[in-house]
Amino acid sequence: MLSHDILIVGGGGAGLRAAIAVAETHPALNVAVVSKVYPMRSHTVSAEGGAAAVISPDDSLDDHAYDTISGGDWLPDQDAVEAFVKEAPRELLQMEHWGCPWSRQPDGSVAVRPFGGMKIERTWYASDKTGFHMLHTLFQTSLKYDPIQRYDEWFVTKLLVDDGRCQGVVAIDLATGRVQGIGAKAVIVCTGGCGKVFPFTTNANIKNGDGMALAYRAGVPLKDMEFVQYHPTGLPFTGILITEATRSEGGHLLNKDGYRYLQDYDLGTPEPRPVLRSMELGPRDRLSQAFVKEQEKGRTLQGPYGDYVNLDIRHLGEKIINSKLPFVRELCLKYENIDPVKELIPVRPVVHYMMGGIHTDIMGATPLAGLFAAGEAACVSINGANRLGSNSLTELLVFGARVGKAAAEYAARQKGNGTAVAAQAAEEVERIERQYRSGGGKGERMAEIRRGMHTAMESGAGIYRSHAALQKSAQEISNLQNRIQGIRLDDSSRTFNTELVAAIELSYMLDVAEAILASASQRTESRGSHQRTDYPDRDDDDFLAHSLAVRQPGAAPAIEYQPVTITRWPPGERVYGR
Ligand code: FUM
Repeated sequence: MLSHDILIVGGGGAGLRAAIAVAETHPALNVAVVSKVYPMRSHTVSAEGGAAAVISPDDSLDDHAYDTISGGDWLPDQDAVEAFVKEAPRELLQMEHWGCPWSRQPDGSVAVRPFGGMKIERTWYASDKTGFHMLHTLFQTSLKYDPIQRYDEWFVTKLLVDDGRCQGVVAIDLATGRVQGIGAKAVIVCTGGCGKVFPFTTNANIKNGDGMALAYRAGVPLKDMEFVQYHPTGLPFTGILITEATRSEGGHLLNKDGYRYLQDYDLGTPEPRPVLRSMELGPRDRLSQAFVKEQEKGRTLQGPYGDYVNLDIRHLGEKIINSKLPFVRELCLKYENIDPVKELIPVRPVVHYMMGGIHTDIMGATPLAGLFAAGEAACVSINGANRLGSNSLTELLVFGARVGKAAAEYAARQKGNGTAVAAQAAEEVERIERQYRSGGGKGERMAEIRRGMHTAMESGAGIYRSHAALQKSAQEISNLQNRIQGIRLDDSSRTFNTELVAAIELSYMLDVAEAILASASQRTESRGSHQRTDYPDRDDDDFLAHSLAVRQPGAAPAIEYQPVTITRWPPGERVYGR
């Protein structure tokens, strides 16, 4: 078996930040990043709008904490949020020193833009390609640390656990098809989200909940999985994100009558509801819910890819659009054949982000010794029932750094691994080898199962949910879990066998889907992004608590609850605006 002190699964923002933290904490440790794509292709690259951290003298850490907690509908753990807002400015400045080209004010100071649900401008940005610049910065910085090695285009199929400790992984080298055990004293999962569980998402095809499913199968609970974020503005055909920065720069959302319909909805802005630009900068859950209401009133437009509303940025003018939103213009031109300088942009809500994930403490440690997680794959939790835009890029830095440090300290105390994991690895290698050999056999096509999953998730776990719809979808996912056992693969080749990878990814998504549905079913209240038509109110007496979905092979997951940590902000109303 290959072996390293620390293995990081996932080479996006959180994974690379964690690798750098390991190298800085304990330079003698040997750390490897295993990623199913070349790191610069990780989904962090597609983030657009920015990263939040206090910088203005008019802002404060308490305001950032309060916005995050109230935006999350009081479900975030307040100790985690306090640590997050405190460490956020240092992380973003560190990025500057590593070469991240933050956009500037004319006087040379860092520019910040307002973002949804934030009382004040605190979103740092690099034009509207923030994720690209952050990932590039982290990647180039990681190259200067000799102890950081990489397994690019290796796909992890199993976590190796023995003696109550995670001790490595089994992975496929996609270029050769070789299946290989890799031992480690600590494993950090940074594989991002699981948007592809749904049919319409801003997420790249690689976002299949791999790390969530790997941890879940290893016995680690998935926390708060019912909280799925819809971003209000995706392109109707592709689901490509049209950044919230369009609205922070002053864009308007218009219904079919050209009316700024958000003024009719309670977005948490104080009465009388202001017709201000802050209207379009309400929190994402409320904006997406307002779209559905507008749709029910017959005031949306109908297009070939479903109902939509229009985003108008024409009044910003070509100069602002080209300087602050050039990527938006490029995306609209390339994917919708429209020029937002002169035309309206069709948009509709689209699955964007998973607030839930692998259950960790505030250092990224899971309940399984030796297993850590950070970024969207993890649930620390700072996002609660609804994440505020631009908190996630900062989260992957703050908690990537924390988890790297924690895993390094843990690994430095471990002596080595037992021999049992080598036998486990050999078993997993043989299991994957059998799948290669089964190529060309009989059985169902995987596309049917994926389609079934998408239909079940959209109808059962969309913006509004009900007991009946959730139960029906859970039953469907359980049927699909059985059906996937007999799927047919046509490709038995070794080199980049994307069919085999897609089949394993689909099995990961089904596990994640069952956790989402079971958690949503048991939460009989409405909070943030989880809106139950049969339980329309927030219920702090029973549900000011994190759900923990625990895998039960062959049965629906067991759902347990853990109290939310409240430090200084007792539960209250969500109110926005200054
Ligand atoms: O709209 C956006 O640019 C998305 C940002 C985020 O999800 O944080």
